[in-house]
Amino acid sequence: MKKFPFEKEIIRLLDNTPFYIYDEKGILKSLKKLQSAFFWCDFKEYFAVKATPTPYILKILGKNNCGMDCSSLVELYLSEMVNIIGENILFTSNNTPLKEYKKAYDLGAIINFDDIGHINKFVKKIGIPKIASIRYIPKESYGTDIIGDPLNSKFGMPFDNIIEGYKKMKELGVKRFGFHSMLVSNTLEEDLIEKNTEIIFRTVKRISDILNIEFEFIDIGGGFGIPYKPEDKELDIDKLGNEIRELYEKYFIEFKPKIFTENGRYITGSHGYLITKVLHIKESYKTYVGVDASMANLMRPGMYKAYHHITVLGKEGKNKKYDVVGSLCENNDKFAIDRELPELEEGDILIIHDVGAHGHSMGFNYNGKLRSAEYIYDGKDIKMIRRAQTLDDYFSTIQGGDIYV
Ligand SMILES: Cc1ncc(COP(=O)(O)O)c(C=O)c1O
Repeated sequence: MKKFPFEKEIIRLLDNTPFYIYDEKGILKSLKKLQSAFFWCDFKEYFAVKATPTPYILKILGKNNCGMDCSSLVELYLSEMVNIIGENILFTSNNTPLKEYKKAYDLGAIINFDDIGHINKFVKKIGIPKIASIRYIPKESYGTDIIGDPLNSKFGMPFDNIIEGYKKMKELGVKRFGFHSMLVSNTLEEDLIEKNTEIIFRTVKRISDILNIEFEFIDIGGGFGIPYKPEDKELDIDKLGNEIRELYEKYFIEFKPKIFTENGRYITGSHGYLITKVLHIKESYKTYVGVDASMANLMRPGMYKAYHHITVLGKEGKNKKYDVVGSLCENNDKFAIDRELPELEEGDILIIHDVGAHGHSMGFNYNGKLRSAEYIYDGKDIKMIRRAQTLDDYFSTIQGGDIYV
């Protein structure tokens, strides 16, 4: 049973729906669990900023020995803002504008290249990165039904290209090397992650033998899953850590690379909730419950048909089937379809679970919907960590002569 942990604490905020609320202790507990599963090696999690780019959250993670995996200029600035800089940033992006590389270089970040052409441009226009890696996309990997077919992936470089890439970097004067790949997404099967990690380790060993490179780190990516459905099992992170340890001992005898991960969802996903109010109930061919949040607040159900569990503040049971919808002019603006919930009425508060990652951050302004506020509960108090967007914010970027008549 999924439970919302701070029902009493949010009562005073209920006039402000829709809003996000995060559980600080839960986030840090997940980080610690991940870190302790890799106790046997020199390990670092680089949190995927894109998942929850909220400075308060980045800061508490940084204070707990977590680096930042940044993919854009703004994410680099966010990391700098909370004083996480230097090699505590891993910059991994594709189709990257040079000014973003420049910012990453100025911050002293580890640079992860996604194409050989970028290596040339970077060295010519910016400088020699102190430490760099390449993102690898093997022809075949496991669980591609979830992450997508590698042959259609815009990310990463095939084996022959990475060999060329590392050769090129050596020639150009790069001295310290890492290796990067991300082959799973929201995966709850330890064995699947292990098998993909073996592809990565085997490749690192092969390149090391061919080019005589001692890799300083291997970033095995993010994508560790969380149980979105009540019946989903949790990823057994200790089991996974042990399986990867065995692989590590098999492949790395002459040199001992650090292990990095860049999870987002595993750290914050289960510890965020979207709180929304029932505005209206409509009977049509089915029963629609309209809430004051929409796909603009959380696009995962509309975009990926992702399941998000919903509970109702102060009500239990499964008495009636509803489609839970927002008010966007799009028919995929639905948080749930044919979901059994307690009998609902206007004013009821719905809690949409597991939205701590790729939730608020994927929000948008379609139909002029304004972005919602974010709060965090630290065990004692609720703090606002991002205010809601206002009409003034929305209109502040508009230009174009005498538009106000
Ligand atoms: C390169 C890269 N790293 C890390 C992540 C984080 O994924 P997750 O939040 O599923 O761990 C993503 C997700 O989009 C990604 O594309």
